[in-house]
Amino acid sequence: MIRVLPHEKDASLPQGQGLRIGRMELATRLLLSPIAGYCDLPFRLTIRPLGGLALASTDLVNPRGLMRRTWKSMQLVETDPDDQPLCIQLYGPHADELAEAARWCQDHGACIIDINMGCPVDKVCKKDAGSALLRDPAGAARLAERVVRAVDVPVTVKMRLGWDETSIVAPALAADLERAGVAAITVHGRTAAQKFSGSVCLDGIARVVEAVRSIPVIGNGDIRRPEDAKAMMDRTGCAGVMIGREALRDPWIFRDTHAFLTTGRVPPAPTVEERLTLMTRHFEHLLRIRGERLACSTMRQRVSWYATRLPPCKRFKERMRMLSSSAEFYVNMHTLAMELLGRDGRRHAEEGQGTQRRGGQ
Ligand SMILES: Cc1cc2nc3c(=O)[nH]c(=O)nc-3n(C[C@H](O)[C@H](O)[C@H](O)COP(=O)(O)O)c2cc1C
Repeated sequence: MIRVLPHEKDASLPQGQGLRIGRMELATRLLLSPIAGYCDLPFRLTIRPLGGLALASTDLVNPRGLMRRTWKSMQLVETDPDDQPLCIQLYGPHADELAEAARWCQDHGACIIDINMGCPVDKVCKKDAGSALLRDPAGAARLAERVVRAVDVPVTVKMRLGWDETSIVAPALAADLERAGVAAITVHGRTAAQKFSGSVCLDGIARVVEAVRSIPVIGNGDIRRPEDAKAMMDRTGCAGVMIGREALRDPWIFRDTHAFLTTGRVPPAPTVEERLTLMTRHFEHLLRIRGERLACSTMRQRVSWYATRLPPCKRFKERMRMLSSSAEFYVNMHTLAMELLGRDGRRHAEEGQGTQRRGGQ
């Protein structure tokens, strides 16, 4: 039997090109996953100019914190005109709080509001939020409906397949959410109980695609190469994909995947020099937006992700893990550039290309 895939139904947007979420038209079918502690404004500003990325999201935001304007919440929702289009992700079990926070987000730069129904972390689930909502699908659908009614922008939901393998609720819940007015569903193809173990279940995502009538389903999980994105779209019929961890290692994944989906070819890998320049750009956004102390602590945390796509650089990583000033940052980057791109550096740089999208964290 030939199944008509939803993205093929959408005649105005050829496969591989854009994606529509409610009244929002996205330029590509590729979205950045929220990754708590990572996908903040400095990172989003760093990776958007590389291309291919249609929609970025904030990390999960607590509506109570937002309504109290806590420092942490305000940092999470911080945005600027170069950071569009932006989705703000909210989590929580209380419909009124979510609705109020969603209205605030709509007035402060969000063109989409996402509700988190996938976070498996104890701290979140203990509050009956995140993936704990999958244990009460009817309640989850009512919650989403309340948020949909509260705002004019599209409301989306990001979920997992179910709480555990004995309760795969995602297909039925997705259908209910569509009836409640939700404009798109993202599904990470694992259960909450799985956390990040095993591999992503494409059949599970396909069942969610089959369950909805016309809203797009975004597939998510384990995309590390453009070919993985295409395989997920082909095997499940999902309209687009969301990429998380690979974007931290290799922010060019969106450019490369978009090129692959539209032309069948992946552009040449970024050079070592381009990767070092990107790290510097990230640091400079951090410095401008967060100040020197936080810029250094963030870079200490990010260096091992970026380094997975560089030639071996153990000493550089050690030095960066102790970073305490911007002066030190520039010295470390210069030293690494000399090591990798200096007199005999070309050989190392070429080896670096060989590590492209293989190693991993
Ligand atoms: C450290 C970490 C933090 C995350 N934080 C969030 C979050 O705030 N909101 C959310 O919806 N998902 C969050 N996720 C899940 C990712 O968005 C994504 O669904 C998951 O990593 C699978 O995609 P990937 O294999 O492309 O990384 C997080 C994942 C990790 C590893």
